[in-house]
Amino acid sequence: MRTIAISNYKGGVGKTTTAVNLASIFASQGLRVLLIDLDPQASATDYFGLYERAAAEGKTSIGLLYGGMPVSEVAYQTAEDNLWVVPSTIELVDQNELLLREQRLKFALDDAAPDFDICLIDCSPVMKSLAFNAYLAAADGGIVVIPVKLDSTVMRGTALTVEATKSIAEALRMPTPRFKILRTCVPGRMTNAESTGAQVLDRFFPESQFSTVIHASSKVCEGSWQWMPVTAFEPGSRPALDYAALAKEVLDELG
Ligand SMILES: Nc1ncnc2c1ncn2[C@@H]1O[C@H](COP(=O)(O)OP(=O)(O)O)[C@@H](O)[C@H]1O
Ligand SMILES: [Mg+2]
Repeated sequence: MRTIAISNYKGGVGKTTTAVNLASIFASQGLRVLLIDLDPQASATDYFGLYERAAAEGKTSIGLLYGGMPVSEVAYQTAEDNLWVVPSTIELVDQNELLLREQRLKFALDDAAPDFDICLIDCSPVMKSLAFNAYLAAADGGIVVIPVKLDSTVMRGTALTVEATKSIAEALRMPTPRFKILRTCVPGRMTNAESTGAQVLDRFFPESQFSTVIHASSKVCEGSWQWMPVTAFEPGSRPALDYAALAKEVLDELG
């Protein structure tokens, strides 16, 4: 099983959008996909309509990380073939600083590895110890995908995220996970501001960007009103085609 952590210490850059679209594409290709929601905002959970049920039944990523529950106990089968989701709820926010076992998620995923081909982790922008868990899970032959929007904050979120992947790996003497930056919400016509953002990224991370970019389209937001990834909502739209290309690039990258 390969693990793809989707992380940026900035909100609203397309992490959840990327997670749910890749999950849907990989599952439609017949890969057995596990999507873990590691954000108390629970947007990925909402995409699958699982919030109330998960909260009532107590089967969430909290159980996985803090309750010692195995993946098999907290993963919900979805209406899509081959796609299982470990939901999250707002309660996750209260757990943050208690978590000292950064490898808890990695160990849980090692146990679940025979049951899945791909694990996608939708990270929170602010909960560091949860992100550390995701990075260490991805360090073992996986990848950290860092979605970015090309605005004036592009370097801060990206640099913090890259730094965090390195620092936790060094602290635990583990291999640093690979990372790659994904440009999201790219307009059809770039403004000067976005071109500046692109130049800055190219200067600092010339080798660590996906060649696929995700274009901006109102179809993404329209689909999200129905909790549908754009790849299902409007399969012929530009971002849907972009996400299909990204899925291929990610698989190539993972080898
Ligand atoms: N390619 C895109 N085109 C247009 N809007 C997008 C695109 N990707 C994401 N969005 C919108 O941007 C907002 C933030 O996206 P989201 O994936 O929730 O970010 P994050 O998980 O990083 O906070 C959402 O309203 C989403 O619908
Ligand atoms: Mg999100």
